[in-house]
Amino acid sequence: MRKAIAAVVLIGTTLLMYQTVFAGAEEDRLAFVKYYKTRFPDIPFAEYANGIYAIDSDARGQWLEIEEFPPYEFAVEQGQEWWEAVFENGKTLADCFPQQLDEIRVSYPRLDERLGEVVTLEMAINQCRTANDQPQLTYGGDEIIDITAFLAYQGRGKELEVRVPENDSRALAAYESGKRFYYSKRGQLNLACADCHVTSVGQLVRADRLSASLGHTTHFPVYRSKLGGMISLHKRFAGCVRDVRAKPFALQSTEFRNLEYFLSYMGNGLKVNGPGARK
Ligand code: HEC
Repeated sequence: MRKAIAAVVLIGTTLLMYQTVFAGAEEDRLAFVKYYKTRFPDIPFAEYANGIYAIDSDARGQWLEIEEFPPYEFAVEQGQEWWEAVFENGKTLADCFPQQLDEIRVSYPRLDERLGEVVTLEMAINQCRTANDQPQLTYGGDEIIDITAFLAYQGRGKELEVRVPENDSRALAAYESGKRFYYSKRGQLNLACADCHVTSVGQLVRADRLSASLGHTTHFPVYRSKLGGMISLHKRFAGCVRDVRAKPFALQSTEFRNLEYFLSYMGNGLKVNGPGARK
């Protein structure tokens, strides 16, 4: 079965890479959207924000039932408390963010002009804590995930609008690095992210159908029933890297932040609908 996936995938990915290697980010995105449109002509663009539930109608029913009593609700409530908590200096996290509450989620990931790197929402939260003499939160820990769950919830309905400024070589380099990551084969299984989520999209791998990469970032963080808790986007990246038997990168590493930048750009125009619920 793995061999079968690898074989299908090899041809498809090579073609897609050829098409995208010389193109700018916006051309990449249009080709990406078009690929899925051709693959699933009946699935409306907006549906890709729902991951596998856009494609798998059986699983969709169960998911909609789960959404009636959202398992991430507790995280959103906790997140609000953390968000409003007052630091010793009298300030709160909100003081670091100039945007309206519902605009914060879609303002990330972005290229930070001063650092010259991609800053994610999690990183911006920790930068704010440092600026207020607070210790950094552990990435992947409850507190930071809950805060992002709250901000995702507040930002629901806003469209992703990640920018890769063409006159900024650092932004282009970060974008290209994320893209390269996505198409590079890795691990003992020698599979790229694109092999499963682009070329083999909709096919079964063990008990799971493969979701489209388009829209992969809209709904994080997610509550995973299998784990009985919330996970961040980078934790999911790490899980998929491990699944191909490669060594995962650290949460919020440059590699994963660039990957998030690329994937989020591909999802531009889709609406944020986090936090989500997944198997
Ligand atoms: C062997 C196939 C395979 C490969 C290779 C793979 N994944 Fe996955 N991935 C899965 C499966 C199976 C799931 C769970 C079902 C789904 O949502 O697609 C999943 C889920 C995900 C999700 C969560 C989707 C959601 O809606 O919550 C993300 C994000 C993701 N993968 C990213 C990646 C990235 C980034 C890579 C490359 C490092 C990668 N995947 C490589 C099989 C794969």
